Amino acid sequence: MSEAPHGAPIKTPGQLIAAVIAGFAVPIVIIILLVYYVDNTTRTGAGTDELSTQQVAARIAPVAQVNVRDANAPHVYKTGEQVFQAVCSACHASGAAGAPKFGNSGDWAPRIAQGFDTLWKTALSGKGAMPPRGGTSPDDYSDYEIGLAVAYMANHAGANFQDPPKPAPGAANAANAASGAAAAAPASGASGADANAAQAQAAAAAIAAIPQASSAPAAGGAQSADASQAGKALYQQVCQACHAAGVLGAPKFGNKADWAPRLKDPMDTVYNYALHGKGQMPPKGGSTASDADVKAAVDYMVSAAK
Ligand code: HEC
Ligand code: HEC
Repeated sequence: MSEAPHGAPIKTPGQLIAAVIAGFAVPIVIIILLVYYVDNTTRTGAGTDELSTQQVAARIAPVAQVNVRDANAPHVYKTGEQVFQAVCSACHASGAAGAPKFGNSGDWAPRIAQGFDTLWKTALSGKGAMPPRGGTSPDDYSDYEIGLAVAYMANHAGANFQDPPKPAPGAANAANAASGAAAAAPASGASGADANAAQAQAAAAAIAAIPQASSAPAAGGAQSADASQAGKALYQQVCQACHAAGVLGAPKFGNKADWAPRLKDPMDTVYNYALHGKGQMPPKGGSTASDADVKAAVDYMVSAAK
């Protein structure tokens, strides 16, 4: 029996079998890997919706969007329950920030005693940590709808209020014709155990209510035709969530005493606080607005407190 030539790699029948199997298996594995490679366009971020139509649309969406409403369309009013769920529950479900709690007749009895019209007015104009209209704009919730929500809450805490009268259709259309910044606070639950946690909760709700399109007024950026308009718009969209009512100790809009000590600092310092945050004040109020617009909002707030 002749020996295999010296130095040949295959010396035993076992090695020969292994070599034959490897000779088949290795090209097959390579072919499989190549097939995966060629086919891998559909595999980007497998298991995610990275390339789903919605995701792509969201990524390439324009920054500013105009929300056009048909002024002539018949207005469909929300029910009191819907308004409560969308807006008021942010504070009233848990009693955040000292709000009278939904369904708690002890919290509500003294308020119900004031009568519906007074409560309705208070809900529209605000009181203490309760922002006017629960922080919404009249374009989104009419006086009538806010009234429905008041009746809904009060009636679940022992009152027997009638719903407010439905406005005439023409008036409602005019009132709701303008397109506005949506500011519906999402519902949220909280324990409300201590006042600070409850305030933080209310602020979180307020921040969550800041529309994602809060960069909208920023879209004009430096070339905003009228800086004071941009400042006012940003204030209404973002800053008022805390500054209208003084949530978390924010200096209140239009309150000279709150603002005077802060305005002793040079304006650059005040701008810096607004841009980069201070204490409970989040940088840019938690928005993605441009620096110019944030400064314009500061100017707007400061001029209201002079
Ligand atoms: C950011 C938190 C917050 C939101 C959102 C909110 N409220 Fe309030 N609300 C309060 C607080 C706090 C009080 C207690 C004010 C006080 O007694 O000083 C209050 C009190 C009230 C009162 C009683 C007023 C009185 O005279 O004692 C009514 C009525 C009311 N809210 C209605 C509403 C309605 C309707 C909505 C939704 C459209 C709403 N609230 C959304 C915080 C909120
Ligand atoms: C989440 C609540 C919240 C929002 C939203 C918010 N602020 Fe404030 N802001 C505060 C609080 C709280 C303070 C007080 C901070 C302190 O003194 O520790 C404050 C303070 C300020 C001050 C005074 C700083 C100083 O002491 O000189 C300015 C200016 C200001 N905010 C501007 C803005 C602007 C502009 C926006 C909107 C783009 C905004 N804030 C949105 C909570 C908020």
